[in-house]
Parts: sequence; structure tokens; C-alpha cells
Amino acid sequence: MLKMNSDLALLAPAKPFSAHLPIQFEGVHLSFGKHLIFSNLNLEIGAQGITAIMGPNGAGKSLILRLLAGLLMPGQGSVRFNQSNRIPRDQIGFVFQRPVLLRRSVQDNLLHALAIAGVERGQRSLRAGALLDLGGMQHLAKSPARKLSGGEQQRLTLLRALAAKPGLLILDEPSASLDPQATALIENIVLRASQCGVKVIVVTHDQGQALRLADEVIFVHKGRVHASQATDEFLRTPASREAKAYLAGELLI
Ligand SMILES: Nc1ncnc2c1ncn2[C@@H]1O[C@H](COP(=O)(O)OP(=O)(O)O)[C@@H](O)[C@H]1O
Ligand SMILES: [Mg+2]
Repeated sequence: MLKMNSDLALLAPAKPFSAHLPIQFEGVHLSFGKHLIFSNLNLEIGAQGITAIMGPNGAGKSLILRLLAGLLMPGQGSVRFNQSNRIPRDQIGFVFQRPVLLRRSVQDNLLHALAIAGVERGQRSLRAGALLDLGGMQHLAKSPARKLSGGEQQRLTLLRALAAKPGLLILDEPSASLDPQATALIENIVLRASQCGVKVIVVTHDQGQALRLADEVIFVHKGRVHASQATDEFLRTPASREAKAYLAGELLI
């Protein structure tokens, strides 16, 4: 119970995110030069909890995340948060596939993120310490961030995103190429954030990870949504031929 209270103080969104749900893509069109990526992409993320986006390489998953976060604008169509065209960027935390860290200590990376998030100077140390505890990284506080292992860097990137108390946390293959233990540490933090009311959208190739984390799966293939189902249902009885082939390891782009 005590743990839950301290998690809430550390992770609960600065503003409730439910006011911005559902998220809807309507007729989204995106191309790079002659390369058409999305001709008419429609999807809906309605519920709180954790949504996984799955699909083969090149399906458009990372681009969907960029559109969601307003890092990229569709050529046509719209990305709407609760019917509004305004993307609540200040409430979105993004963890990219490759960690992007400052050439400073682990602790300084967090202090910097807290400063940017507008946390008062006097409170930053305490919050950084609590984040380090959450990530099991206290012993690495003074280490140069860029000298950490891959798993530690990814964990620090996640903690840094959480420093701003986002309402929506977006993760692009957060544990690709990590071992099971490093993966479990990341998943534990993501679950704790979710329990504190953070909406999570995670791209993953890992069916085990989808099952452990996600309430629902959106399956994307060649720039279109081919299934959108509760996770256990998706894994047991995928709603499309393409999704079935993907889960069986048979789908090539
Ligand atoms: N900046 C870009 N310029 C041109 N093509 C791009 C760009 N970004 C992504 N693409 C192409 O869009 C498609 C979808 O990319 P992406 O969303 O990264 O796929 P994934 O599902 O593997 O994350 C791929 O064919 C990729 O080559
Ligand atoms: Mg990708």
C-alpha cells in the first residue's frame, strides 16, 4: 500500500488524461515523395490502460507513434484527441527505439528533465532520487549516462520520460534487443505507471510482452489496421488472415 502511495506521488499524471480520449486517426494520408505510406489509415484508441501496436517491420508502427505525438503531420486526414485537433503535446512522454541521453551523469539527466518539466529547484533532488529508486539505479546515479549498458540506458530514458508526469506514455519497442531481466525491469515500471493512471501505447514485436502488458492490440500491416482486439483474444483468435500469419511467424512485408 505504501508503495502504491509513493508510486502515485511520483507517477500519477500531472493532469488527468482521460479528457483526451479517445484518440482517433481518420483517413490519415502520409507519403514521402513518391513513397505512399498511409493512404487511408483509420484507428481508434478508446480506453485507458495499455495499448500495444504490433505488425511486421516497415508496417508503419513508428510513424503512427510520431503522428500520435504530433512530431509528424498527416498530408490529409486528422489525428484527434477527444474530437479535438489539438495534440496535448505537453502531456505526452515519448521513449524512442534508441535511447537519447545527455552526455552527463545519470542523476543529471533526470535533474535536467525535471527542470524542463518545470519542477521547482528545491524539489528536483528528491524526485530524481525517487525515480532512481523506481528504476533500481541509485548505485549508478553518478555514472556517465552514455557508459551504461543498453538496458540501463533504456531504463533511464523511460525514467526521464516519466519525470514530467505525462498522461500518455508512448514507447517504441522499448525492450528490443534486451535480455529477459532487463525487459522485466522495464515492464515493471511501465505497469506501475499504468496503475497510476498513465495511458500507455507501446510498439512491440514480442507476443509475450503484449500478453504481460497490454489490454488491447492494434495490428498494422502495410499501412492499415487489420485487427483491433483485446490482447488474449488477439493472440488466440486474431481477427484477420494477416494477423494470423504474423503471429505464426509467416508474414513478410
Ligand atoms: N523519413 C522517411 N522517409 C521516407 N520513408 C520513410 C521515412 N520514415 C519511414 N519511412 C518508411 O515508411 C515505412 C514505415 O516505417 P516505420 O513506421 O518506421 O515502420 P515500422 O512499422 O517498422 O516502425 C517504411 O517503409 C519506411 O521505410
Ligand atoms: Mg519502428
